[in-house]
Amino acid sequence: MAEQESLEFGKADFVLMDTVSMPEFMANLRLRFEKGRIYTFIGEVVVSVNPYKLLNIYGRDTIEQYKGRELYERPPHLFAIADAAYKAMKRRSKDTCIVISGESGAGKTEASKYIMQYIAAITNPSQRAEVERVKNMLLKSNCVLEAFGNAKTNRNDNSSRFGKYMDINFDFKGDPIGGHINNYLLEKSRVIVQQPGERSFHSFYQLLQGGSEQMLRSLHLQKSLSSYNYIHVGAQLKSSINDAAEFRVVADAMKVIGFKPEEIQTVYKILATILHLGNLKFVVDGDTPLIENGKVVSTIAELLSTKTDMVEKALLYRTVATGRDIIDKQHTEQEASYGRDAFAKAIYERLFCWIVTRINDIIEVKNYDTTIHGKNTVIGVLDIYGFEIFDNNSFEQFCINYCNEKLQQLFIQLVLKQEQEEYQREGIPWKHIDYFNNQIIVDLVEQQHKGIIAILDDACMNVGKVTDEMFLEALNSKLGKHAHFSSRKLCASDKILEFDRDFRIRHYAGDVVYSVIGFIDKNKDTLFQDFKRLMYNSSNPVLKNMWPEGKLSITEVTKRPLTAATLFKNSMIALVDNLASKIDYCGRKEPYYVRCIKPNDKKSPQIFDDERCRHQVEYLGLLENVRVRRAGFAFRQTYEKFLHRYKMISEFTWPNHDLPSDKEAVKKLIERCGFQDDVAYGKTKIFIRTPRTLFTLEELRAQMLIRIVLFLQKVWRGTLARMRYKRTKAALTIIRYYRRYKVKSYIHEVARRFHGVKTMRDYGKHVKWPSPPKVLRRFEEALQTIFNRWRASQLIKSIPASDLPQVRAKVAAMEMLKGQRADLGLQRAWEGNYLASKPDTPQTSGTFVPVANELKRKDKYMNVLFSCHVRKVNRFSKVEDRAIFVTDRHLYKMDPTKQYKVMKTIPLYNLTGLSVSNGKDQLVVFHTKDNKDLIVCLFSKQPTHESRIGELVGVLVNHFKRVTSNRVRAKKKVCVIQWKSKYESQEGAESSAHGGTENSGVGLEPGELGRSRRPGSWRGQRITETPRGAWSFS
Ligand SMILES: Nc1ncnc2c1ncn2[C@@H]1O[C@H](COP(=O)(O)OP(=O)(O)OP(=O)(O)O)[C@@H](O)[C@H]1O
Ligand SMILES: [Mg+2]
Repeated sequence: MAEQESLEFGKADFVLMDTVSMPEFMANLRLRFEKGRIYTFIGEVVVSVNPYKLLNIYGRDTIEQYKGRELYERPPHLFAIADAAYKAMKRRSKDTCIVISGESGAGKTEASKYIMQYIAAITNPSQRAEVERVKNMLLKSNCVLEAFGNAKTNRNDNSSRFGKYMDINFDFKGDPIGGHINNYLLEKSRVIVQQPGERSFHSFYQLLQGGSEQMLRSLHLQKSLSSYNYIHVGAQLKSSINDAAEFRVVADAMKVIGFKPEEIQTVYKILATILHLGNLKFVVDGDTPLIENGKVVSTIAELLSTKTDMVEKALLYRTVATGRDIIDKQHTEQEASYGRDAFAKAIYERLFCWIVTRINDIIEVKNYDTTIHGKNTVIGVLDIYGFEIFDNNSFEQFCINYCNEKLQQLFIQLVLKQEQEEYQREGIPWKHIDYFNNQIIVDLVEQQHKGIIAILDDACMNVGKVTDEMFLEALNSKLGKHAHFSSRKLCASDKILEFDRDFRIRHYAGDVVYSVIGFIDKNKDTLFQDFKRLMYNSSNPVLKNMWPEGKLSITEVTKRPLTAATLFKNSMIALVDNLASKIDYCGRKEPYYVRCIKPNDKKSPQIFDDERCRHQVEYLGLLENVRVRRAGFAFRQTYEKFLHRYKMISEFTWPNHDLPSDKEAVKKLIERCGFQDDVAYGKTKIFIRTPRTLFTLEELRAQMLIRIVLFLQKVWRGTLARMRYKRTKAALTIIRYYRRYKVKSYIHEVARRFHGVKTMRDYGKHVKWPSPPKVLRRFEEALQTIFNRWRASQLIKSIPASDLPQVRAKVAAMEMLKGQRADLGLQRAWEGNYLASKPDTPQTSGTFVPVANELKRKDKYMNVLFSCHVRKVNRFSKVEDRAIFVTDRHLYKMDPTKQYKVMKTIPLYNLTGLSVSNGKDQLVVFHTKDNKDLIVCLFSKQPTHESRIGELVGVLVNHFKRVTSNRVRAKKKVCVIQWKSKYESQEGAESSAHGGTENSGVGLEPGELGRSRRPGSWRGQRITETPRGAWSFS
């Protein structure tokens, strides 16, 4: 059951009609047609109404909507049927077929093309080149066949004048791998004559309108259509067809399909030959018929690659073998004309059959090995000429309508008869529904010995002159009592029928009056052997191959060929058998049907001619189709599929049932909904009586679907969130483990590298630290500090206790002056008390020591921190030698020249800081609380110029650190006066001290420094820090 279409478009499936009646059927059909919904289902049959306008419903989007969908999932469409047939074929690896029926102009050929396009579009997803080639051939073959087999009729501008059944072969994957076309009875009489308003086959017009000047010249043709007798009837007709454009399309298609250039050329030559033949005129000279326009004969001979006299002979004479003698019997004028027309028809028919054979040669499945490629399956598409009633119906219409009777019979057999049999098979109580069984008409035509075809054949076999009237007489006498046959003789009051000319058959689709004129000839389909030989003897190999029977010698006795009607009958029987063999799919016994309806005779997209449509609905048996489909049971479905669709309605079946069988589950579901009185349970299927029940089920389903969708969305969102959560968690775990791994491997690496540092000479100083992960940067710093401390402790451990104060002093000096002064004197041993050390002052130490001892006694110092000679420059620029003596209590300034007489005593607690320069000089400023800074230059005698500034600073800082319990507060770390004066350029502090005449600051008396620190007073110096307070102790 189709869905997804609102009811404003009518009912998508006729089985859902409230009452099965013609008015309701027609109202629904009309409503849908007017709303542009040209397709409607009857179960699995598609009813199609020709829209006579281009609809945007065959594009890629629509194809995607139908691809792989079940029939009931989408609105009715050809694609739904095509997909169902394709799926059926693929799922079960069984052949299927689609039968398209309807009267002329109802849209069968269009439908068949859309079906093929759909199949081509949904197959070969892997784009295999060979499959693409085959698909292209199959699609292109259509336009070639239409050019040569279709014509404009009063019913249809592009009427198929032949029947076509096309098999498409698929490999086991479901991709098209080839095909085969069966063609049925071409209406070849159209080549020589057309009814008013009609045209001959498109190919003639296409050649004349589309062929180049040069091509036409080579074919001795001119563009004017009315110049040719065979086609001049329809020459002036207006039609929607663009012949010139089509010519190019067809030529291109022939090329693509694989026609060789000489073959295409021969095709045009044959068309030209036919046009020229039509213009041949015979005149009688006495008893002898002559050809009036002999030039045409030579043209024909040239086109057929044969000799002019042979063509002329074949047209005017007939070679007859009487016993052993061969004589040329001259034609009468009438015979010559008949022979000419028969020849024209025959070569056109032969051309058409040859084209089909050539296409088949090319599209045929090749190199297919079922053991390698799997089973090769087939979808057959039947597009055959529709039932037609013309003003003048002849032998061809008789055959065409018989063909439609056969197909209707197949429909009845399968859809109406077997449908009812299904109820019986399923054990459903069933009241038989009547339908018109056209078997009686089929029998009227084809029954052996008694049917019209048999009577016609009998007539044709009679020796002597047999006329069409004699055939009609035979019909009258043999079928006089048949309910579906009549003639004027049988019903004298029926003025519509002409005496001795017409007979009427009451077809399933309506009464058709046939004129017997031409029946005998057309059935005999005589073509004089001379023409066959003429063609066989052509030097054009393509032509020669078309006429193999021409090689028979005149004297050879051939079997009487089957008549045209019998050939057609046999082909129809074979066709129906073929179709019947392709419809056994999963218990269903129907082909897929497309029932085409023609809405009006004006080819108008607006008009829905109720009467015309009702007539077609009637004769197509559509109402019966609906009735049988739903008589009592509008719907049936296998239990499995039913459950699949409706199981969400009941808690017993959702999501899966645990009952013994699907049938039990369906029963439970139906009872739960309260529909038990409206259904019947077959052996494998459930049958639902009224559409209302089905609607209610659908509504319930739709309501549940919303909840299911919400539920699914909920679950799915939950799933997504959980998945996201899990992913994030996993990522975090990975990160954690990775970090742990990095940390561990760092620690291990550190441990590895520093393993045994204790025993190394430098305690691991040379060991390179591995680079730590980011997270351990600070840890590394701490670790390095710990390591350095450890290393330091190890180093310190090895230093004797007596050296420790010196080490501390050096450390203190380094902390204070590192990077500020070049030489801190760290490399040498710090004597400290240089005045007492003999090398420094060999002559004077003797005098200094008692002074120092006296001071110790007097001032009670414990340790001597530093002593040294110094120099200072007084205000008169006189250099004076002095000495400083620093104890743990005082700083003394002494005069070495006067036995180290103390000149000044500064208690150490009065010292507030030191300033030193960053040059090589040994200038030092002792800052005092009372601002009487002492400024001196250290001066060493032994060795000369030994740098002692570092030592002085280190000793003092170390001392103050100790006495103040390490609470030395460095207000400013740097206590360095940087000057880039000449002192720096001069070598050594001594020289600077001696020659420092320019430096008014150096050697200033305490208290004067403050003044001298005015900008510019330290000429050439850049003072970066104020000496005062630059470095203080507290
Ligand atoms: N689905 C369609 N969409 C648009 N136009 C259509 C459609 N089907 C048919 N037609 C129109 O109707 C015309 C006749 O259709 P088509 O040739 O298929 O009829 P037919 O049933 O094959 O007739 P015949 O028995 O004479 O061959 C087309 O040429 C086209 O103009
Ligand atoms: Mg057609």
